Amino acid sequence: MLAVIGGSGLTQLANLEVDRREVVRTPWGDPSGPLTFGRIGGQSVVFLARHGYGHSIPPHKVNYRANIWALIKEAKANRIVSVASVGSIRRDLGPGTLVIPHQIIDYTSGRESTFFDGGEGQVVHVDFTHPYSEEMRAELLRAAEVAGVQVLEGAVYATTQGPRLETAAEINRLERDGADIVGMTGMPEAVLARELDVPYAALCVVANWGAGRADSTEGIRFERIEEVLHAAMGEVRQVISGLCTEEFCPT
Ligand code: HPA
Repeated sequence: MLAVIGGSGLTQLANLEVDRREVVRTPWGDPSGPLTFGRIGGQSVVFLARHGYGHSIPPHKVNYRANIWALIKEAKANRIVSVASVGSIRRDLGPGTLVIPHQIIDYTSGRESTFFDGGEGQVVHVDFTHPYSEEMRAELLRAAEVAGVQVLEGAVYATTQGPRLETAAEINRLERDGADIVGMTGMPEAVLARELDVPYAALCVVANWGAGRADSTEGIRFERIEEVLHAAMGEVRQVISGLCTEEFCPT
């Protein structure tokens, strides 16, 4: 079972033939919404809208633990693709670009970010040197290639706390830190999947130039973001359809 977590601009998967929706509860509370079960090209897929179906849950209030637990422990997903919109820090990554990041820097604070909260009777440290599944990243890349969709392989994803956007100086600092793209939901989602030992990779869509850069020099224009995301999500769906073909999901 493939799980897809949709972010801003992807509150549903148009190419998913829906079988049923299920409300699930977890020991960590309620996920962002009911899980949508269905099929894409014969492959079983479970979809969850990260911010809720009405896009009402801000990044710092998403119950990441409940979402990941629901997908893995309740829906029995054995791999997760996260779709997320991001701002661009790097000059060659314009709005509309699709990116598969390979690294993360976590600038968030105050989020519930582990399943290993000390109640297990022993301290657990997971390895997170390579935060994304290399195998899944390669599959996403190949699926994009087959679908004829251009994606950029490799980027450092800075996760900020939000919900406000960054200052121009913060974007400059993120660049000095080595970040290429910036978003608000990359963490703790990725590490929670790692803690449950399920392969996880992200497909990011550049929605805008980072604050202070290019056409965001005077501020970020939200009307433009919606247009960009709308256009790019068609490509995201194509990549996900590609991931559901025989090559990656032998039946
Ligand atoms: N910053 C942080 N998160 C984002 C941005 C941004 O510029 N664009 C989309 N998500």
